[in-house]
Amino acid sequence: INQGNGVKGLSEMGLKALPKPYIQPLEERMCMTKIITQESIPIIDMSNWEHPKVSKAVCDAAEKWGFFQIVNHDVPIEVLESVKDATHCFFGLPADQKIKYSKEHSASNNVRFGTSFSPMAEKSLEWKDYLSLFFVSEEEASALWPPVCREQVLEYMRRSEVVIKQLLQMLMNGLDVKQIDETKKSLLMGSVRTNLNYYPICPNPELTVGVGRHSDVSTLTILLQDEIGGLYVRGNQGESDSWLHVPPIEGSLVINVGDALQILSNGRYRSVEHRVIANGTKNRISVPIFVNPKPTDIIGPLPEVLQSGAKPIYKQVLYSDYVKYFFSKAHDGKKTIEF
Ligand code: SIN
Ligand code: FE2
Repeated sequence: INQGNGVKGLSEMGLKALPKPYIQPLEERMCMTKIITQESIPIIDMSNWEHPKVSKAVCDAAEKWGFFQIVNHDVPIEVLESVKDATHCFFGLPADQKIKYSKEHSASNNVRFGTSFSPMAEKSLEWKDYLSLFFVSEEEASALWPPVCREQVLEYMRRSEVVIKQLLQMLMNGLDVKQIDETKKSLLMGSVRTNLNYYPICPNPELTVGVGRHSDVSTLTILLQDEIGGLYVRGNQGESDSWLHVPPIEGSLVINVGDALQILSNGRYRSVEHRVIANGTKNRISVPIFVNPKPTDIIGPLPEVLQSGAKPIYKQVLYSDYVKYFFSKAHDGKKTIEF
């Protein structure tokens, strides 16, 4: 049903109950977890980003939480507003316009409209639609990306690149990596993917998920979320199943460490599990930029982090194999890093 209109199509049919394939097992539902409200992830002011205090705050947050929010960064608020508007425009297109970008019809694997995460591999589906845009060149984007959001996404990516470089510079300083040469640049930011996520109103939000528990496979993820909320991050209290809400802050960006940076830093920076709940009354959007190694890079702990004689915790892996493994299974917490 509703090929080309995804979960949004189901939502707009006005279903009284959640269709069976979306019902998650009890242990994946938010009601089974403890929600922490006394603490929250750090909020870091980037206006003085060259100050050692900012650098320390970023490195500490990446070690302790794996997640933080940045405010007063260099991405203008108008750019953020316009990419959010463009996201609504894309998902608001008629089904026959969106289906052109689906797996079956898309002109390229680099442009993909889809629903859930890995529907073929999942026992229960996720209540989410997405458009995924792997960046190759401005020329390819002009030719293949949907015109309703192309320019807005490109501008968001261009403006974010400045902030990404600042953050990576700070994080590398924290590892005693003195200079980001071409090799390191490739490992840290050799490829970029931007997703537009749409989480439609759900008839039984408590029975399903927007996105199941996972950690990202990126080095860093820059996430723009709207004012609705629903993103939860695993707390840092050891093994306990406790989660913290990431409150929307106007103009902020949520930054998180991905598996690739956890591996490169030999476990110093943590890629932390997160999840998104479904919402019974509001349509939510988010726009993550995944900053990744180049697919052909081999990633492993950086020489600098092993200088002191530390043992490498992770073996070397071809990054494209790592990503392929991630997408071959359902969201399953942090299992990819055991690959
Ligand atoms: C994700 O981590 O996959 C999505 C995060 C969000 O929508 O807030
Ligand atoms: Fe994620």
